[in-house]
Amino acid sequence: MEFETVQVETHGRVGLIRLHRPQALNAISVQLIKDLSAALDALEADRTIGCLILTGSERAFAAGADIKEMQNFTYPDTYLDDFITSWERLSRTRKPIIAAVSGVALGGGCELAMMCDFILAADTARFGQPEIRLGVMPGSGGTQRLTRFVGKSKAMEMCLTGRMMDAVEAERCGLVSRIIPAADLVEEALKVAANIAAMSLPVAMMTKESVNRAYETSLAEGIRFERRVFQSQFALADQKEGMAAFIAKRPAEFNKE
Ligand code: HXC
Repeated sequence: MEFETVQVETHGRVGLIRLHRPQALNAISVQLIKDLSAALDALEADRTIGCLILTGSERAFAAGADIKEMQNFTYPDTYLDDFITSWERLSRTRKPIIAAVSGVALGGGCELAMMCDFILAADTARFGQPEIRLGVMPGSGGTQRLTRFVGKSKAMEMCLTGRMMDAVEAERCGLVSRIIPAADLVEEALKVAANIAAMSLPVAMMTKESVNRAYETSLAEGIRFERRVFQSQFALADQKEGMAAFIAKRPAEFNKE
C-alpha cells in the first residue's frame, strides 16, 4: 500500500499506520486524511488483520490541522465541504486501534489520538488543544472527547489556555493508558497490538463496540447492549475454542473460522 502522507506496514496480524509529513511535523492536511481513510479501509477489509496502530514520528504524532492550508478557508468553503467531518472516519474504525504517541499531539493531532481506542504515550509526549491561540476552537471532537477523558475542569483549562500537558500529567488524568520510554514505544505498541490481534476478532470488535456504548447511552441501556452481545458470543466457534483450550490447558487458537 503506497500513500503520499502515510506509511502502512503489516506485522503478522497487526496493521501499523504511520503519519508521514516530516517537513510539517505531520500537520494534518486534506491529503493526509484521504490517505489515512484509504489505509483504514484497506486494513479493515483484510480479515487477517486483527488490530491497528496509529503513530507518527519521534518528534510529532501530529502538530494539528495544517494551518497553512486552513489559513485562507472561507466560511462557505468549510460549510459546503463540511470541513473536518471526513476526519471522523478514524472514529468509525471497527477494529481495535491504538494511538502510539511520541512528541507533540496538538489540536487535531490530539483529537486524532483521542479517536483511537486507547493511547500509549512515549515519555516525550505532549498533548494540547492550542486552537484558541489561532483564533478558533477545537473542531474535531476536542471539546467533547477531552472532557470525557479528563473531566470538565482540566478540559476547560486546556481548551481555554491552549497549554500543553506532558505524558506524566496525561497519564495521571486518564488521557493515556500507559507511559513507555520513547525508544521502545513502537515495539511495545506492536506487542500490545499483537496480543489483541491474537484474540477472537469478532469478540475484540464487540468488546470495543460495547465499551464505546458507555459513552453514548445510559447505564441501563449500555448493560442491556452488553448482555445481548455477550449472549451472542456463544454462537461463535471462538467461544468453544477458548473454553476448550482453557480446560485442556493449551493455548487457544482463535480466528480459524
Ligand atoms: C502547518 C506546521 C504545523 C501546523 C508545525 N508546522 N505545525 N505547519 N500546520 N499545524 C510546520 C512549521 O511551520 C515548520 O515549517 C515545521 O512544521 C516545523 O515546526 P517548527 O514550529 O519550526 O518547530 P518547533 O519550533 O519545534 O515547534 C513545534 C511546535 C510548533 C510547538 C509543535 O510547530 C507549533 O506550535 N505548531 C502549531 C501547533 C498548533 O497550533 N496546532 C493546532 C493547529 S489548529 P517550516 O516550513 O517553517 O519549517 C488545529 C485545528 C483543529 O489543529 C480543528 C479541527 C480539526
